[in-house]
Amino acid sequence: MKITMSVIKADIGGFVGHSSVHPDLLENARGILAGSPLPIDFHVTHVGDDINLIITHEYGKNNGDIHQLAWDTFLSCTSLARKLKLYGAGQDLLADSFSGNVKGMGPGVAEMEFEERGSEPVIVFMADKTEPGAWNLPIYKMFADPFNTIGLVIDPKMHQGFLFEVRDLIDNKKVTFSCPEELYDMLVFIGAPGRYCIKSVYQKGTNEIAATSSTQRLNLMAGRYVGKDDPVLIVRCQSGFPAVGEALEPFANPHLVSGWMRGSHSGPLMPVPVNLSNPTRFDGPPRVVALGFQLCDGKLHGPQDFFADPSYDLARQKANEVANFMRSMGPFEPHRLHLDEMEYTTMPDVSKRLKNRFEKI
Ligand code: F6R
Ligand code: MG
Ligand code: MG
Repeated sequence: MKITMSVIKADIGGFVGHSSVHPDLLENARGILAGSPLPIDFHVTHVGDDINLIITHEYGKNNGDIHQLAWDTFLSCTSLARKLKLYGAGQDLLADSFSGNVKGMGPGVAEMEFEERGSEPVIVFMADKTEPGAWNLPIYKMFADPFNTIGLVIDPKMHQGFLFEVRDLIDNKKVTFSCPEELYDMLVFIGAPGRYCIKSVYQKGTNEIAATSSTQRLNLMAGRYVGKDDPVLIVRCQSGFPAVGEALEPFANPHLVSGWMRGSHSGPLMPVPVNLSNPTRFDGPPRVVALGFQLCDGKLHGPQDFFADPSYDLARQKANEVANFMRSMGPFEPHRLHLDEMEYTTMPDVSKRLKNRFEKI
């Protein structure tokens, strides 16, 4: 049976500030999805201030009705957020009316369609206070690094490698790399995650979808700062794909990502369970949650809240140590992002005001 898994997310109001989602909004979203005949199943959750709708259905990717359902859910939650005077109510909904597809309208989307296997373990990763490129390093490790994924070496079903579709978010172009042969070429690009993002990964030979991410950059879409891009990622696991533990392993060693405080700082991506995904310190540090589901005829059995496991305690401790170190730099780069990457800046105003004070040397 062909199943589509759609993960659609938006920040439509924070509780308190930009730290989390009000429980009434999550309940409201559940009620709306439960009232629709379209989903086979759904799970509503949050990471930080983002609501995530995980929906399974049979209508394929970019389906107008499913996107409409997500849009209506976010709109309804927005009016509730306005009523409760939640912070930044409606911040990710860029348009006033729906035009058939939520892509480009604010919400983040990751969707994949596949024939459900005899057993179909899937992980949905969701992050807050960061950008889509934050997935580049972990996806690389899952699907291309034998030091992370031993299956690439000793599982005959993985040994041939994977195909990586990489998007250029600035020029709106895409390119596919075949790895391991083109690893070094690919790294030239994905090592610059502010611009190049891994959109999807496919199994070689079968062309089966293995992973897909959301790649919108809200700030580029709106041409001004309108909020974080807080990305999501779906990964299929086992039997020719990374084992569940190989997909989770990259997060045992927190890497630095962009998007902390005012979308203008770099910090470690801390793996946490849903109940700890409420960024506090300096509005962070950035968080990632991993929910595992076993699909059964499209039904979502789960979730397994993977980062609740004590084997991620040390990663959290390390993230705290790195966060301390980064914070000690205050307003200096590289804790503060490079000028082109900051989502807030007073540079034009201050430069204008001080223009006449700058003398030629
Ligand atoms: C938002 C975020 C926060 C805000 C910060 C300032 O996702 O990461 O760090 O950027 O709290 O928010 P405003 O400008 O709304 O006061
Ligand atoms: Mg917010
Ligand atoms: Mg957010």
